[in-house]
Amino acid sequence: ADTLIVVAVDGPAGSGKSSVSKAVAKKLGYAYLDSGAAYRAFAWYVVQRGIDVQDEPAVIRLLADFDYRIGTDPDGYAVFVGEHEVTQAIRDPEVTATVRYVSRVPEVRSHLVELFRRIIRSADAPGIVVEGRDITTVVAPDAPVRLLLTAEEHVRMGRRSAEITTQTASTVAEQLRSRDRADSRVVDFMNAADGVTTVDSTDLDFDQTVNAVIEVIHSHTARISHGN
Ligand code: CDP
Ligand code: CDP
Repeated sequence: ADTLIVVAVDGPAGSGKSSVSKAVAKKLGYAYLDSGAAYRAFAWYVVQRGIDVQDEPAVIRLLADFDYRIGTDPDGYAVFVGEHEVTQAIRDPEVTATVRYVSRVPEVRSHLVELFRRIIRSADAPGIVVEGRDITTVVAPDAPVRLLLTAEEHVRMGRRSAEITTQTASTVAEQLRSRDRADSRVVDFMNAADGVTTVDSTDLDFDQTVNAVIEVIHSHTARISHGN
């Protein structure tokens, strides 16, 4: 698809990236790529192979064997590592707690960035919404639409703890804060890079956020089809 419209979405945990990006893709008939799922799946794989997540040389060696597959249908995608379906397993608190150690390794990042670019190139849709932390800056800096989805911290924490019933709200909040702090030492997803449009969802409900993102997409794609 040579006219594929790439919509790049970055933001911190709980900003609404996954749910909003998925809904936007559904509404527009676009494909959807959750980049965080690959970091989570690789962390899952490292643990499953019995490797210490902090043993960088061993972690890097595992990249060659990491057989990762993910669908791009926003109506429900499955994540596979080899023959294991890990769609649910990668959301486990253990994975959430260890993912930062693999995602900070430059060799891991460049390997996954190449993988994302291959998935984007092979998307069979008029567009693809790709979400993560470094999509607007590293994975797809030339995307015609680039967005940073933000929300004030207390709102993001509240949204996340409403979803997680197996841990207390304060545990969820503390872990989220600590993961964001660790992640933002590796890539800056708290500030919009040049040319990136910020959508602040602090005072927007879910549908309003989806509509705000679609408006940004329409304003950019209208500009593309008018040739400037
Ligand atoms: O949805 P949530 O905010 O919990 O996180 P995620 O998008 O599933 O990403 C999980 C982890 O993967 C993050 O905490 C980062 O460590 C890493 N990640 C990354 O480094 N770069 C990306 N583009 C996406 C995720
Ligand atoms: O992917 P990320 O961590 O950025 O966030 P998410 O998992 O998509 O969203 C976290 C929760 O916030 C979900 O349950 C969303 O439905 C909810 N949300 C909301 O209540 N209001 C918004 N404006 C955006 C998301």
